[in-house]
Amino acid sequence: MKDTVILVVTGSVAAFKAAQLARRLMERGLLVKVAMTTAAERFITPLTFEALTGQPVLRAGFPQPGEAPMEHINFSRGARLVVIAPATANTMGKLAHGVADDSVLSMLLASGLPVMVAPAMNTQMYKHPAVQSNINTLAGRGVTFIGPSSGSLACGEEGEGKMEDAEVIAAAVMEKLGGEKDLAGVRLLVTTGGCQEPIDPVRYIGNRSSGKMGVAVAQVAAGRGAEVVLVAAHMETGLPEGMRVVRAHTAMEMQEAVRKEFAQCDILVMAAAVADYQVENPATGKVKKKNSMRLDLVETPDILAGVAMEKGGRVVVGFAAETEDHLASGRKKLMSKNLDLIVINDVSRGDIGFGSDYNEVTLLTRDGKKIEIARASKDMVAGEVLDQAATIWRDSRTVEQPEAS
Ligand code: C5P
Repeated sequence: MKDTVILVVTGSVAAFKAAQLARRLMERGLLVKVAMTTAAERFITPLTFEALTGQPVLRAGFPQPGEAPMEHINFSRGARLVVIAPATANTMGKLAHGVADDSVLSMLLASGLPVMVAPAMNTQMYKHPAVQSNINTLAGRGVTFIGPSSGSLACGEEGEGKMEDAEVIAAAVMEKLGGEKDLAGVRLLVTTGGCQEPIDPVRYIGNRSSGKMGVAVAQVAAGRGAEVVLVAAHMETGLPEGMRVVRAHTAMEMQEAVRKEFAQCDILVMAAAVADYQVENPATGKVKKKNSMRLDLVETPDILAGVAMEKGGRVVVGFAAETEDHLASGRKKLMSKNLDLIVINDVSRGDIGFGSDYNEVTLLTRDGKKIEIARASKDMVAGEVLDQAATIWRDSRTVEQPEAS
Protein backbone atom coordinates (compact mmCIF):
# COMPACT_ATOMS: atom_id res chain seq x y z
CA MET A 1 0.00 0.00 0.00
CA LYS A 2 1.46 3.33 -1.07
CA ASP A 3 1.93 6.28 1.28
CA THR A 4 -0.19 9.27 0.29
CA VAL A 5 1.00 12.86 0.48
CA ILE A 6 -1.00 16.00 -0.20
CA LEU A 7 0.74 18.58 -2.38
CA VAL A 8 -0.75 22.04 -1.96
CA VAL A 9 0.10 24.37 -4.84
CA THR A 10 -0.36 28.10 -4.31
CA GLY A 11 -0.22 31.08 -6.65
CA SER A 12 3.46 31.69 -7.33
CA VAL A 13 5.22 31.62 -10.67
CA ALA A 14 7.09 28.63 -9.23
CA ALA A 15 3.80 26.68 -9.45
CA PHE A 16 5.03 24.99 -12.63
CA LYS A 17 7.83 23.44 -10.57
CA ALA A 18 5.16 21.73 -8.47
CA ALA A 19 4.53 19.48 -11.49
CA GLN A 20 8.15 18.33 -11.32
CA LEU A 21 7.77 17.87 -7.58
CA ALA A 22 4.66 15.71 -8.05
CA ARG A 23 6.67 13.49 -10.38
CA ARG A 24 9.65 13.30 -8.04
CA LEU A 25 7.37 12.23 -5.19
CA MET A 26 5.68 9.60 -7.36
CA GLU A 27 9.04 8.29 -8.47
CA ARG A 28 9.72 7.65 -4.82
CA GLY A 29 6.69 5.42 -4.66
CA LEU A 30 4.23 7.91 -3.14
CA LEU A 31 0.63 8.52 -4.12
CA VAL A 32 0.28 12.28 -4.62
CA LYS A 33 -2.99 14.20 -4.25
CA VAL A 34 -2.87 17.84 -5.29
CA ALA A 35 -4.86 20.73 -3.85
CA MET A 36 -4.70 24.12 -5.59
CA THR A 37 -5.55 27.62 -4.48
CA THR A 38 -7.47 29.85 -6.88
CA ALA A 39 -4.34 31.86 -7.62
CA ALA A 40 -2.37 28.69 -8.41
CA GLU A 41 -4.83 27.93 -11.21
CA ARG A 42 -3.72 31.12 -12.94
CA PHE A 43 -0.26 29.59 -13.34
CA ILE A 44 -0.99 25.93 -13.98
CA THR A 45 -4.17 23.96 -14.55
CA PRO A 46 -5.74 21.31 -12.31
CA LEU A 47 -5.83 19.09 -15.42
CA THR A 48 -2.03 19.05 -15.54
CA PHE A 49 -1.90 17.62 -12.03
CA GLU A 50 -4.77 15.21 -12.62
CA ALA A 51 -2.99 13.86 -15.69
CA LEU A 52 0.33 13.60 -13.84
CA THR A 53 -0.93 12.04 -10.64
CA GLY A 54 -4.01 10.18 -11.86
CA GLN A 55 -5.84 11.62 -8.82
CA PRO A 56 -8.64 14.19 -8.62
CA VAL A 57 -7.46 17.68 -7.64
CA LEU A 58 -9.03 19.59 -4.74
CA ARG A 59 -9.85 23.08 -5.99
CA ALA A 60 -10.30 26.09 -3.77
CA GLY A 61 -13.90 27.04 -4.50
CA PHE A 62 -16.56 25.79 -2.12
CA PRO A 63 -18.64 22.89 -3.44
CA GLN A 64 -21.77 23.65 -5.40
CA PRO A 65 -25.09 22.17 -4.25
CA GLY A 66 -25.07 18.51 -5.30
CA GLU A 67 -21.30 18.18 -5.10
CA ALA A 68 -19.58 16.34 -2.26
CA PRO A 69 -19.88 18.84 0.60
CA MET A 70 -17.22 17.34 2.85
CA GLU A 71 -14.43 17.05 0.34
CA HIS A 72 -12.16 19.39 2.35
CA ILE A 73 -12.41 16.94 5.24
CA ASN A 74 -12.30 13.69 3.28
CA PHE A 75 -9.55 14.74 0.90
CA SER A 76 -6.68 14.32 3.34
CA ARG A 77 -7.96 11.14 5.01
CA GLY A 78 -5.33 8.43 4.99
CA ALA A 79 -2.55 10.81 3.92
CA ARG A 80 0.76 10.98 5.79
CA LEU A 81 1.66 14.64 5.37
CA VAL A 82 1.00 17.88 3.53
CA VAL A 83 3.65 19.72 1.59
CA ILE A 84 2.88 23.26 0.41
CA ALA A 85 5.06 24.01 -2.61
CA PRO A 86 5.29 26.69 -3.71
CA ALA A 87 3.98 28.48 -0.61
CA THR A 88 3.11 32.16 -1.06
CA ALA A 89 3.26 34.78 1.68
CA ASN A 90 -0.52 34.93 1.41
CA THR A 91 -1.17 31.23 2.11
CA MET A 92 1.47 31.11 4.87
CA GLY A 93 -0.15 34.16 6.46
CA LYS A 94 -3.60 32.61 6.34
CA LEU A 95 -2.35 29.32 7.75
CA ALA A 96 -0.51 31.11 10.55
CA HIS A 97 -3.74 32.87 11.54
CA GLY A 98 -6.18 30.03 11.06
CA VAL A 99 -7.95 31.61 8.11
CA ALA A 100 -10.03 29.06 6.23
CA ASP A 101 -11.69 31.09 3.50
CA ASP A 102 -11.62 28.38 0.84
CA SER A 103 -11.63 24.59 0.55
CA VAL A 104 -7.85 24.27 0.40
CA LEU A 105 -7.23 26.27 3.58
CA SER A 106 -10.11 24.46 5.28
CA MET A 107 -8.50 21.16 4.29
CA LEU A 108 -5.18 22.37 5.71
CA LEU A 109 -6.73 23.23 9.08
CA ALA A 110 -8.85 20.08 9.20
CA SER A 111 -6.21 17.57 8.13
CA GLY A 112 -4.28 17.32 11.38
CA LEU A 113 -1.29 16.18 9.30
CA PRO A 114 2.34 17.25 9.60
CA VAL A 115 2.92 20.23 7.29
CA MET A 116 6.01 21.02 5.24
CA VAL A 117 6.35 24.38 3.51
CA ALA A 118 8.56 25.41 0.59
CA PRO A 119 8.20 29.21 0.33
CA ALA A 120 8.59 31.05 -2.98
CA MET A 121 8.47 34.82 -3.30
CA ASN A 122 10.34 38.03 -3.93
CA THR A 123 13.19 38.70 -1.48
CA GLN A 124 11.62 41.82 0.03
CA MET A 125 8.36 40.00 0.58
CA TYR A 126 10.18 37.12 2.20
CA LYS A 127 12.07 39.45 4.50
CA HIS A 128 9.03 41.50 5.44
CA PRO A 129 8.55 41.38 9.23
CA ALA A 130 4.95 40.21 8.84
CA VAL A 131 6.03 37.26 6.69
CA GLN A 132 8.93 36.40 8.99
CA SER A 133 6.61 36.58 11.98
CA ASN A 134 4.17 34.18 10.25
CA ILE A 135 7.03 31.83 9.46
CA ASN A 136 8.10 31.88 13.11
CA THR A 137 4.54 31.21 14.23
CA LEU A 138 4.25 28.23 11.89
CA ALA A 139 7.71 26.90 12.75
CA GLY A 140 6.76 27.19 16.44
CA ARG A 141 3.78 24.93 15.70
CA GLY A 142 6.00 22.29 14.21
CA VAL A 143 5.74 23.19 10.53
CA THR A 144 8.91 22.17 8.67
CA PHE A 145 10.37 24.72 6.24
CA ILE A 146 12.29 23.64 3.17
CA GLY A 147 14.21 26.61 1.76
CA PRO A 148 13.77 29.07 0.22
CA SER A 149 17.12 29.13 -1.52
CA SER A 150 18.88 32.13 -3.03
CA GLY A 151 19.22 32.84 -6.74
CA SER A 152 17.73 34.87 -9.55
CA LEU A 153 14.01 35.29 -8.95
CA ALA A 154 11.18 35.56 -11.46
CA CYS A 155 10.88 39.27 -10.62
CA GLY A 156 14.39 39.83 -12.01
CA GLU A 157 16.00 40.35 -8.61
CA GLU A 158 18.67 38.22 -7.03
CA GLY A 159 18.27 36.98 -3.50
CA GLU A 160 16.52 34.75 -1.03
CA GLY A 161 13.03 33.57 -1.94
CA LYS A 162 13.54 30.97 -4.66
CA MET A 163 11.56 27.77 -4.16
CA GLU A 164 13.89 24.92 -3.32
CA ASP A 165 14.53 22.37 -6.11
CA ALA A 166 11.93 19.65 -6.56
CA GLU A 167 14.59 17.03 -5.87
CA VAL A 168 15.51 18.65 -2.54
CA ILE A 169 11.87 18.97 -1.47
CA ALA A 170 11.15 15.36 -2.45
CA ALA A 171 14.16 14.19 -0.44
CA ALA A 172 12.97 16.20 2.58
CA VAL A 173 9.49 14.69 2.28
CA MET A 174 10.97 11.18 2.19
CA GLU A 175 13.13 12.00 5.18
CA LYS A 176 10.08 13.21 7.09
CA LEU A 177 8.13 10.10 6.17
CA GLY A 178 11.05 8.05 7.38
CA GLY A 179 10.78 6.61 3.85
CA GLU A 180 11.13 2.89 3.72
CA LYS A 181 14.81 2.38 3.13
CA ASP A 182 14.42 -1.34 2.53
CA LEU A 183 17.27 -1.29 0.02
CA ALA A 184 19.73 0.47 2.33
CA GLY A 185 23.10 -1.25 2.08
CA VAL A 186 22.27 -2.82 -1.32
CA ARG A 187 24.63 -1.87 -4.13
CA LEU A 188 22.77 -1.72 -7.40
CA LEU A 189 24.24 -1.47 -10.89
CA VAL A 190 21.72 -0.41 -13.54
CA THR A 191 22.27 0.01 -17.28
CA THR A 192 19.92 2.05 -19.39
CA GLY A 193 19.40 3.72 -22.77
CA GLY A 194 20.24 2.59 -26.26
CA CYS A 195 23.73 2.00 -27.61
CA GLN A 196 24.78 3.83 -30.75
CA GLU A 197 27.31 2.08 -32.96
CA PRO A 198 29.29 4.43 -35.22
CA ILE A 199 29.34 4.03 -39.00
CA ASP A 200 31.60 7.05 -39.34
CA PRO A 201 32.17 10.12 -37.10
CA VAL A 202 28.69 11.46 -38.02
CA ARG A 203 26.39 8.46 -38.48
CA TYR A 204 25.48 5.60 -36.24
CA ILE A 205 23.20 2.60 -35.91
CA GLY A 206 20.89 3.04 -32.95
CA ASN A 207 17.64 1.81 -31.46
CA ARG A 208 14.44 3.23 -30.01
CA SER A 209 15.22 2.86 -26.32
CA SER A 210 14.50 6.06 -24.34
CA GLY A 211 16.27 4.99 -21.17
CA LYS A 212 13.14 5.68 -19.07
CA MET A 213 12.74 2.16 -17.70
CA GLY A 214 16.32 1.90 -16.44
CA VAL A 215 16.19 5.42 -15.00
CA ALA A 216 12.98 4.49 -13.16
CA VAL A 217 14.71 1.43 -11.67
CA ALA A 218 17.72 3.54 -10.64
CA GLN A 219 15.63 6.33 -9.11
CA VAL A 220 13.19 4.14 -7.26
CA ALA A 221 16.10 2.09 -5.88
CA ALA A 222 17.95 5.24 -4.77
CA GLY A 223 14.75 6.46 -3.10
CA ARG A 224 14.59 3.16 -1.22
CA GLY A 225 18.12 3.63 0.07
CA ALA A 226 20.18 1.61 -2.43
CA GLU A 227 23.61 2.80 -3.48
CA VAL A 228 23.14 3.10 -7.24
CA VAL A 229 25.56 3.29 -10.16
CA LEU A 230 23.88 3.98 -13.49
CA VAL A 231 25.61 3.12 -16.75
CA ALA A 232 23.80 5.22 -19.33
CA ALA A 233 23.90 4.94 -23.12
CA HIS A 234 21.91 7.33 -25.33
CA MET A 235 18.77 8.54 -23.51
CA GLU A 236 15.69 10.56 -24.38
CA THR A 237 15.27 11.49 -20.75
CA GLY A 238 17.39 13.53 -18.32
CA LEU A 239 20.14 12.07 -16.18
CA PRO A 240 18.92 11.38 -12.65
CA GLU A 241 20.54 12.87 -9.57
CA GLY A 242 21.59 11.18 -6.36
CA MET A 243 23.71 8.47 -7.94
CA ARG A 244 26.96 7.96 -9.81
CA VAL A 245 26.41 7.99 -13.58
CA VAL A 246 28.87 6.47 -16.05
CA ARG A 247 28.31 7.22 -19.75
CA ALA A 248 28.78 4.42 -22.27
CA HIS A 249 27.75 5.05 -25.85
CA THR A 250 28.62 1.80 -27.60
CA ALA A 251 28.29 -1.85 -26.65
CA MET A 252 32.06 -2.09 -26.16
CA GLU A 253 32.08 0.96 -23.84
CA MET A 254 29.15 -0.48 -21.94
CA GLN A 255 30.88 -3.83 -21.57
CA GLU A 256 33.93 -2.12 -20.13
CA ALA A 257 31.86 -0.06 -17.68
CA VAL A 258 29.71 -3.00 -16.57
CA ARG A 259 32.70 -5.28 -16.06
CA LYS A 260 34.44 -2.59 -14.02
CA GLU A 261 31.43 -1.91 -11.78
CA PHE A 262 30.07 -5.46 -11.52
CA ALA A 263 32.55 -6.58 -8.87
CA GLN A 264 31.26 -3.91 -6.46
CA CYS A 265 27.54 -4.57 -6.92
CA ASP A 266 25.01 -6.88 -5.28
CA ILE A 267 22.34 -6.63 -7.97
CA LEU A 268 22.73 -5.86 -11.68
CA VAL A 269 19.68 -4.69 -13.61
CA MET A 270 20.54 -4.65 -17.29
CA ALA A 271 17.78 -2.52 -18.80
CA ALA A 272 19.93 -1.04 -21.59
CA ALA A 273 19.14 -1.83 -25.20
CA VAL A 274 22.61 -2.97 -26.07
CA ALA A 275 23.35 -3.02 -29.81
CA ASP A 276 23.47 -6.59 -31.09
CA TYR A 277 25.74 -5.61 -33.98
CA GLN A 278 28.50 -3.11 -34.51
CA VAL A 279 30.07 -1.89 -37.74
CA GLU A 280 33.15 -3.98 -38.36
CA ASN A 281 35.37 -1.12 -39.48
CA PRO A 282 33.83 2.28 -38.76
CA ALA A 283 35.25 4.96 -41.11
CA THR A 284 37.51 7.53 -39.48
CA GLY A 285 36.26 10.31 -41.81
CA LYS A 286 32.71 11.05 -42.94
CA VAL A 287 31.74 8.63 -45.72
CA LYS A 288 30.78 10.51 -48.91
CA LYS A 289 27.18 10.12 -50.08
CA LYS A 290 26.74 7.62 -52.89
CA ASN A 291 23.97 5.54 -54.49
CA SER A 292 24.26 2.67 -52.09
CA MET A 293 26.39 1.61 -49.20
CA ARG A 294 27.19 -1.74 -47.66
CA LEU A 295 27.91 -2.14 -44.02
CA ASP A 296 29.67 -5.15 -42.62
CA LEU A 297 28.27 -5.80 -39.18
CA VAL A 298 29.72 -8.06 -36.55
CA GLU A 299 28.09 -9.29 -33.38
CA THR A 300 28.72 -7.39 -30.15
CA PRO A 301 29.61 -9.34 -27.02
CA ASP A 302 26.62 -10.34 -24.88
CA ILE A 303 27.51 -8.25 -21.82
CA LEU A 304 24.82 -9.70 -19.61
CA ALA A 305 25.55 -13.33 -20.39
CA GLY A 306 29.26 -12.64 -19.93
CA VAL A 307 29.01 -11.21 -16.42
CA ALA A 308 26.17 -13.53 -15.37
CA MET A 309 28.38 -16.57 -15.98
CA GLU A 310 30.66 -15.29 -13.21
CA LYS A 311 28.00 -13.80 -10.96
CA GLY A 312 28.77 -15.71 -7.78
CA GLY A 313 26.34 -14.48 -5.12
CA ARG A 314 25.14 -11.49 -7.16
CA VAL A 315 21.63 -11.22 -8.51
CA VAL A 316 21.41 -10.54 -12.24
CA VAL A 317 18.29 -9.18 -13.92
CA GLY A 318 17.86 -8.96 -17.69
CA PHE A 319 15.25 -7.44 -19.95
CA ALA A 320 13.76 -9.05 -23.01
CA ALA A 321 12.14 -6.78 -25.58
CA GLU A 322 10.10 -9.10 -27.77
CA THR A 323 7.60 -8.77 -30.59
CA GLU A 324 6.45 -12.41 -30.66
CA ASP A 325 6.55 -15.56 -28.51
CA HIS A 326 7.35 -13.33 -25.54
CA LEU A 327 7.22 -15.86 -22.79
CA ALA A 328 9.05 -18.65 -24.59
CA SER A 329 11.81 -16.31 -25.80
CA GLY A 330 12.09 -14.70 -22.37
CA ARG A 331 12.32 -18.05 -20.60
CA LYS A 332 15.02 -19.17 -23.03
CA LYS A 333 17.07 -16.02 -22.33
CA LEU A 334 16.61 -16.42 -18.59
CA MET A 335 18.21 -19.85 -18.75
CA SER A 336 20.80 -19.36 -21.49
CA LYS A 337 22.14 -16.11 -20.00
CA ASN A 338 22.19 -17.55 -16.47
CA LEU A 339 19.87 -14.84 -15.07
CA ASP A 340 17.95 -14.80 -11.79
CA LEU A 341 15.10 -12.74 -13.17
CA ILE A 342 13.95 -11.55 -16.59
CA VAL A 343 11.56 -8.71 -17.38
CA ILE A 344 9.71 -9.45 -20.61
CA ASN A 345 7.92 -6.75 -22.52
CA ASP A 346 6.05 -6.63 -25.79
CA VAL A 347 7.68 -3.87 -27.81
CA SER A 348 5.25 -4.23 -30.70
CA ARG A 349 2.68 -2.21 -28.71
CA GLY A 350 2.75 1.58 -29.05
CA ASP A 351 1.05 2.38 -25.72
CA ILE A 352 3.77 0.84 -23.57
CA GLY A 353 7.49 0.15 -23.80
CA PHE A 354 9.82 2.26 -25.95
CA GLY A 355 9.60 5.97 -25.17
CA SER A 356 6.43 5.58 -23.10
CA ASP A 357 6.09 6.37 -19.38
CA TYR A 358 4.17 3.11 -19.02
CA ASN A 359 5.02 -0.51 -19.30
CA GLU A 360 3.30 -3.86 -19.01
CA VAL A 361 5.62 -6.74 -18.31
CA THR A 362 5.89 -10.32 -17.20
CA LEU A 363 8.59 -11.27 -14.73
CA LEU A 364 10.02 -14.77 -14.75
CA THR A 365 12.36 -15.96 -12.05
CA ARG A 366 14.84 -18.78 -12.28
CA ASP A 367 12.95 -20.72 -9.63
CA GLY A 368 9.82 -20.73 -11.77
CA LYS A 369 7.82 -17.75 -10.48
CA LYS A 370 5.75 -15.87 -13.05
CA ILE A 371 4.47 -12.38 -12.17
CA GLU A 372 2.30 -10.45 -14.60
CA ILE A 373 2.29 -6.68 -14.10
CA ALA A 374 -0.66 -4.98 -15.80
CA ARG A 375 -0.07 -1.65 -17.54
CA ALA A 376 1.46 0.68 -14.96
CA SER A 377 3.88 3.60 -14.75
CA LYS A 378 7.50 2.64 -15.26
CA ASP A 379 8.10 3.67 -11.61
CA MET A 380 5.57 1.10 -10.44
CA VAL A 381 7.07 -1.56 -12.67
CA ALA A 382 10.53 -0.61 -11.37
CA GLY A 383 9.29 -1.07 -7.79
CA GLU A 384 8.05 -4.61 -8.58
CA VAL A 385 11.29 -5.55 -10.35
CA LEU A 386 13.26 -4.28 -7.34
CA ASP A 387 11.01 -6.14 -4.88
CA GLN A 388 11.63 -9.40 -6.71
CA ALA A 389 15.36 -8.85 -7.19
CA ALA A 390 15.83 -7.84 -3.54
CA THR A 391 13.90 -10.92 -2.37
CA ILE A 392 16.12 -13.22 -4.43
CA TRP A 393 19.19 -11.42 -3.11
CA ARG A 394 18.09 -11.67 0.53
CA ASP A 395 17.04 -15.32 0.20
CA SER A 396 20.41 -16.20 -1.29
CA ARG A 397 22.12 -14.65 1.72
CA THR A 398 19.95 -16.28 4.36
CA VAL A 399 22.16 -18.78 6.11
CA GLU A 400 20.29 -21.36 8.16
CA GLN A 401 20.84 -20.67 11.81
CA PRO A 402 21.79 -23.68 13.95
CA GLU A 403 19.06 -24.55 16.41
CA ALA A 404 19.56 -23.11 19.87
CA SER A 405 20.51 -25.82 22.36
O1 C5P B 1 19.30 -11.33 -26.30
P1 C5P B 1 18.66 -10.01 -26.05
O2 C5P B 1 19.37 -8.88 -26.71
O3 C5P B 1 17.20 -9.96 -26.30
O4 C5P B 1 18.80 -9.86 -24.46
C1 C5P B 1 18.36 -8.73 -23.80
C2 C5P B 1 19.09 -8.57 -22.50
O5 C5P B 1 20.49 -8.78 -22.69
C3 C5P B 1 18.97 -7.16 -21.97
O6 C5P B 1 18.99 -7.19 -20.57
C4 C5P B 1 20.19 -6.46 -22.55
O7 C5P B 1 20.57 -5.37 -21.74
C5 C5P B 1 21.22 -7.57 -22.54
N1 C5P B 1 22.18 -7.53 -23.66
C6 C5P B 1 23.54 -7.47 -23.38
N2 C5P B 1 24.46 -7.48 -24.40
C7 C5P B 1 24.08 -7.56 -25.67
C8 C5P B 1 22.70 -7.64 -25.97
C9 C5P B 1 21.77 -7.62 -24.94
O8 C5P B 1 23.91 -7.40 -22.22
N3 C5P B 1 24.97 -7.53 -26.62
